[in-house]
Amino acid sequence: MDAVDISNVALNQLRENDTRINIIHEDLDTWQIPQNRYQLIINIRFLDRRLFPMIKKGLKPGGVLIFESFIDKKKDYCLETNELLHAFNSFQIVYYEEKENDPPDKFDQSVYLVAIKK
Ligand SMILES: C[S@@+](CC[C@H](N)C(=O)[O-])C[C@H]1O[C@@H](n2cnc3c(N)ncnc32)[C@H](O)[C@@H]1O
Repeated sequence: MDAVDISNVALNQLRENDTRINIIHEDLDTWQIPQNRYQLIINIRFLDRRLFPMIKKGLKPGGVLIFESFIDKKKDYCLETNELLHAFNSFQIVYYEEKENDPPDKFDQSVYLVAIKK
């Protein structure tokens, strides 16, 4: 398992909790996801649209993507309604939901996607 983060804060906790995790201390603005490598990619509450094509190539066929992020039409760094669904429409969509944050957050909605690379 590979874990990528620009900050050592979370990575240090992983180092202490499970030595089987391969820690990758890199900036996802520049790090390249290896192609055809992963059976599962998890992207939770981090958004870089540049990664979308790399996520598609990084998964093996049959590989699973779990993605959670925020929707806010007033903020460019958040997703738009249905944007995530369209971005991965070549995948088999297992689960997709956009819903209001409860309790209310600084962003309009949360979005959840589980999809399988065909
Ligand atoms: C909101 S936190 C979410 C962390 C975790 N996925 C979770 O759900 O608890 C965003 C994470 O993205 C990392 N991050 C921010 N910019 C990054 C970048 N350019 N490259 C890699 N990681 C980055 C932060 O260090 C932080 O750990």
